[in-house]
Amino acid sequence: MSKPLDGIKIIDFTHVQAGPACTQMLAWFGADVIKVERPGSGDVTRSQLRDIPGVDALYFTMLNSNKRSLTLDTKKPEGKEVLEKLIRESDVLVENFGPGALDRMGFSWERLNELNPKMIVASVKGFSDGHHYDDLKVYENVAQCAGGAASTTGFWDGPPTISAAALGDSNTGMHLAIGILTALIGRDKTGKGQKVAVSMQDSVLNLCRVKLRDQQRLDRVGYLEEYPQYPHGEFSDVVPRGGNAGGGGQPGWVLKCKGWETDPNAYIYFTVQGHAWEPICRAIGRPEWIEDPAYKTAEARQPHIFEIFKTIEEWLADKTKFEAVDVLRKFDIPCSPVLTMKELANDPSLRASGTIAEVQHKERGSYLTVGSPIKFSDMKPEITGSPLLGEHTEEVLAGLGYNRSQIDNLRESKVV
Ligand code: COA
Repeated sequence: MSKPLDGIKIIDFTHVQAGPACTQMLAWFGADVIKVERPGSGDVTRSQLRDIPGVDALYFTMLNSNKRSLTLDTKKPEGKEVLEKLIRESDVLVENFGPGALDRMGFSWERLNELNPKMIVASVKGFSDGHHYDDLKVYENVAQCAGGAASTTGFWDGPPTISAAALGDSNTGMHLAIGILTALIGRDKTGKGQKVAVSMQDSVLNLCRVKLRDQQRLDRVGYLEEYPQYPHGEFSDVVPRGGNAGGGGQPGWVLKCKGWETDPNAYIYFTVQGHAWEPICRAIGRPEWIEDPAYKTAEARQPHIFEIFKTIEEWLADKTKFEAVDVLRKFDIPCSPVLTMKELANDPSLRASGTIAEVQHKERGSYLTVGSPIKFSDMKPEITGSPLLGEHTEEVLAGLGYNRSQIDNLRESKVV
């Protein structure tokens, strides 16, 4: 089946997570993604956190499916020559090196644009160009701190906390993918390529926008009505950490279910959505709360919201998280069990939808990876295993017009 990005050739000069997550997604949708890696070592994640000695780590395999791998030393003159040939016939180059690395290699935006004016050059950096920290190298957790996520995540009596979700890495990669697709559509109209830059700080902040909303509300009124600190605690002049409180207009909390004493994930997330108050009261067997002025409105409930959650926990005490959700769903109450990675890995719905895919790797055998979270009516992305280091070097070089003896020479001089 043809895919929307068939025919789009991407030089994947990315490593670790932010860049590879972007190019992997474009590969799922049909782009020919050629991962350019240093001969001998390749992307550092190939060897990070290995679970099988000598075999590409899951860190790598789960971020580089559907790609081809070309080894190339792009600091050697012959390597630069190969790269230039590739640039001339590619549509996109994606990179997430440290600041200035591409320029030092001799491939500034100006040079790339000269080599191929139609090519889109997409970059991830920690901070945006011109930012006072734009010289910094950045990893995930650094970005979460720089983008406002850490100061607003966790409990008020604990330190700033990092989310397990890759807000700095994969999230930035997703932003970059949107930028690349936008630039490709733009190119259809203008015939010109352009530079697309996304910073990790900006991408984290984009997801933390409700906290910027809250800062302005706090500046104006001095408190935040949906935070656990209200009305009993103190607010300073910055948005505090709100524990597990809901970030919108619906108070919610993580509530204990049957077995919580021994199972650290025997919890559900329960949302007290305003218009669902009546069904909530019926579901938990408290119909008298429906018309009670102390409970009837969100404003009336907020001062004793934790007492309400405690009552709901009493109702949950004899129900597992799954049984609880099965009752609450009948009342249209937004909620979910707190699911573990093990439960997700074995979830038949996620397997059926392709969100979790089991794929084959030449050396590791089968492994689980994430599939496309985006579903299309006319396409089901097929996820394949990640390439071995340099698996497609000969194929790519031959495609660029190199003959057998030229390829052998490049190998002997360790350019590929
Ligand atoms: N052949 C020859 N040299 C190569 C090469 C190849 N195929 N691929 C990379 N290199 C070189 C680069 O030219 C650079 O050399 P230089 O520093 O001498 O100019 C070097 O390898 C890579 O440098 P860098 O990207 O800075 O790697 P690092 O391991 O020191 O830092 C990061 C890693 C992730 C911190 C850094 O790349 C970074 O800040 N990236 C931008 C933000 C980002 O994406 N971070 C999140 C990653 S999940």
